[in-house]
Amino acid sequence: MQKPQRSPSGHPASRSHRCATAFLALTALAVLSPRQAQAYGDPAAGHELATTWCSGCHQVDPRAQVLATDAAPSFQAIAALPSTTLLSIQAFLRTTHDVMPNFRLTEPQIDNVGAYILEIRTRPPG
Ligand code: HEC
Repeated sequence: MQKPQRSPSGHPASRSHRCATAFLALTALAVLSPRQAQAYGDPAAGHELATTWCSGCHQVDPRAQVLATDAAPSFQAIAALPSTTLLSIQAFLRTTHDVMPNFRLTEPQIDNVGAYILEIRTRPPG
């Protein structure tokens, strides 16, 4: 009587294919996870940081009645710009500018401030 020529774990070729697929999935996870974590900052921490570092020029809190200065747009005005995205805020804060001083914010700080600015976009004025 002839036994089937298969090992219990299946055909070698299909097995290594499964391994490759699993490896790819793990690699994708490893690459994607840190980026996803980056995409969500902490708006409360961003608000705190902005109150300390940015409120000298920007009106940081939409509930404030008085503009800090009309030389800089309020955070709410920045949030209302259709061009404002987390990416545009990140790009702005990572690069140097002429008018606004260059802050050396860490990546998490940038994400937090970005999250805060995007959060007040949805908040009604007043
Ligand atoms: C000394 C004044 C000053 C301070 C302090 C300041 N800014 Fe600004 N900021 C400006 C001015 C002026 C502009 C508008 C001109 C420009 O875009 O460079 C601006 C523009 C911006 C913009 C809009 C960029 C765009 O897309 O048009 C963002 C976002 C911003 N500031 C974030 C911040 C954050 C976050 C802080 C605190 C860490 C901060 N600013 C602190 C003066 C300031």
